[in-house]
Amino acid sequence: MDLKSGIDVSRLPQHVAIIMDGNGRWAKGQGMPRIYGHHNGVKAVRACTEAAAEIGIRYLTLYAFSTENWNRPEQEVNALMALLVETIGQEVKTLNENNIRLEAIGDISALPAASLQALKKGMRDTAQNTGMTLILALNYSSRWEITRATRQIASRVKQGLLHPDQIDEHTVQSELETHNYPDPDLLIRSSGEQRLSNFLLWQCAYTEFYFTPVFWPDIQKKDFWQAILEYQQRERRYGMTSDQLMMDHTPNI
Ligand code: IPE
Ligand code: IPE
Ligand code: MG
Repeated sequence: MDLKSGIDVSRLPQHVAIIMDGNGRWAKGQGMPRIYGHHNGVKAVRACTEAAAEIGIRYLTLYAFSTENWNRPEQEVNALMALLVETIGQEVKTLNENNIRLEAIGDISALPAASLQALKKGMRDTAQNTGMTLILALNYSSRWEITRATRQIASRVKQGLLHPDQIDEHTVQSELETHNYPDPDLLIRSSGEQRLSNFLLWQCAYTEFYFTPVFWPDIQKKDFWQAILEYQQRERRYGMTSDQLMMDHTPNI
């Protein structure tokens, strides 16, 4: 069955976020070093990016490196950073051909110089594209993001630009890394783990979760489309009742 043709394009998630997990275990299963898994994970990145762009997803966010991932063995961290440079360099042409804009969230200033340079070049070279936005979460963690937002709000209060009573959800949202994007409608995690690992905690308040046991390097387009089909079976109630939704009440969120 062609999964793609079963998708209702009028009810697509606007924003899909993915926790790309299982590279290490996949490699171990092949008797290979973890880094081999990361290299093979690039194919799955390409597959999901294409699968998303083909059906008209507006935003695709990929969790590529968490703040906590710095605690991994130095050799693995270095390999991941080198892979980032290599991959972005290779993919810019394809991104342009597909009208995809590359952006990033996270504390990218702390990335090694070569990785930051490649990332910035990739973002610059695709900035004019108007199709899907591909967002890489790099040196990202939600607690870092929320802490930073809090610091910025506090500083505006101290400067007298903002009164504490004026702080609402919009104030917080506007200081987050994701302030330009809608919240994810669908979050996918590969490798069977069912946790958020410090990813988009605020933004996932009403996100639908989809977990698959498949290790990231084995993920194919069909897995992405399967997740979209499952998403389209869900009823997003935002705290309301099913009957209210039938009567077309607009959720207050
Ligand atoms: C995901 O795969 C890639 C990154 C976190 C960078 P892992 O490297 O976490 O693979 P497992 O979870 O150890 O199998
Ligand atoms: C989450 O995966 C981070 C990324 C996918 C980049 P991890 O493999 O680091 O998460 P935990 O440690 O299993 O929670
Ligand atoms: Mg993992």
